[in-house]
Amino acid sequence: MIRLTGRARAHSNIALVKYWGKRDSDLFLPMTNSLSLTLDALYTDTSIVFDSELTEDTFTLDQIVQSKEQTEKLTHFLDIIRAKAQITSKANVTSLNFVPTAAGLASSASAYAALIGACADALGWEDDHKSLSKLARRGSGSATRSLFGGFVEWDKGTDDSTSVAIPIDDGQWDIGLIVLVLNNGKKKISSRDGMAHTVATSPFYENWVKTVPSDIKQMKAAIYRKDIEMIGEIAEHNALKMHATMLSANPPFWYFEPATLLAMERIRELRQAGYPAYFTMDAGPNVKIICQKSDMTAIMDELSHFYTNDQMITSAAGPDMRTLTEEEWAESLAKKEGSNEYSH
Ligand code: DP6
Repeated sequence: MIRLTGRARAHSNIALVKYWGKRDSDLFLPMTNSLSLTLDALYTDTSIVFDSELTEDTFTLDQIVQSKEQTEKLTHFLDIIRAKAQITSKANVTSLNFVPTAAGLASSASAYAALIGACADALGWEDDHKSLSKLARRGSGSATRSLFGGFVEWDKGTDDSTSVAIPIDDGQWDIGLIVLVLNNGKKKISSRDGMAHTVATSPFYENWVKTVPSDIKQMKAAIYRKDIEMIGEIAEHNALKMHATMLSANPPFWYFEPATLLAMERIRELRQAGYPAYFTMDAGPNVKIICQKSDMTAIMDELSHFYTNDQMITSAAGPDMRTLTEEEWAESLAKKEGSNEYSH
């Protein structure tokens, strides 16, 4: 009997220059580079046991055993890992999402980054985050970037071995992000389907691909200068350009809800009131506010007229993916069991 156990923690990330579209959907090679900020407030802890006696993979998420259908994607991902490690053992995977309140913010980014970290730990692989980012990519594109903390670029690369994450800056300065939870339901169109449909049908998509390299270049210059206004302006424009490709898809679709537009207006008002505060949105209605960490309390105060405390999640830049000791894993389990502040 062979039993191999590993555990890891990875943090979620929010793209400031978005990934929207694949050029190879099997290898998850993106059309463009993208650049994100890893968040310390949102993360996933995962434990894996490869066990030669198991007959199938199992997946337990936030203490709920997932169905066979829900485990399919995981098995597909583990097959890639098994082939690389030249093993055949099935695995028990247990994941805990640490997302304050039922925010619907559980992300595939932290999920696959934590899973690859746990696999590497179990299989005794060398701790090379760049190499691991390539494998995380095969689970979900945005997971590529969650191997590293701070600001991270995902280089689209030329092939499987060069499409990797590159850390840009640790983000340990006066930058923060507030997630505004406007609707915590499951999204109607997954980002995977949404981007494929956009690539296939939007006449504007080509222009998106053309403009991203300059956004990346300028964003890197802005990060280097720690220039929050420039970071925010580029991020807002980039997000709106991405959403415009969806509006121009055929048939069109959008993730915005009335509350999304209202929040965007309110962030513009914050700006008029003197706060450097900017918005970005992903494949869902929630709005993320990019701002100075030192302004977060005052901004929350301003927004408290419109939103409850539970709807505003503040975060600073988060750290790299890291393995967890047995004790740390036990602590996470206890935290999950003992707390109703966190839920999935
Ligand atoms: C809008 O990484 O969820 O959040 O690669 O198909 O799993 P798959 O898609 P996913 O897409 C994320 C899209 C985005 C922008 C971003 O995170 O860069």
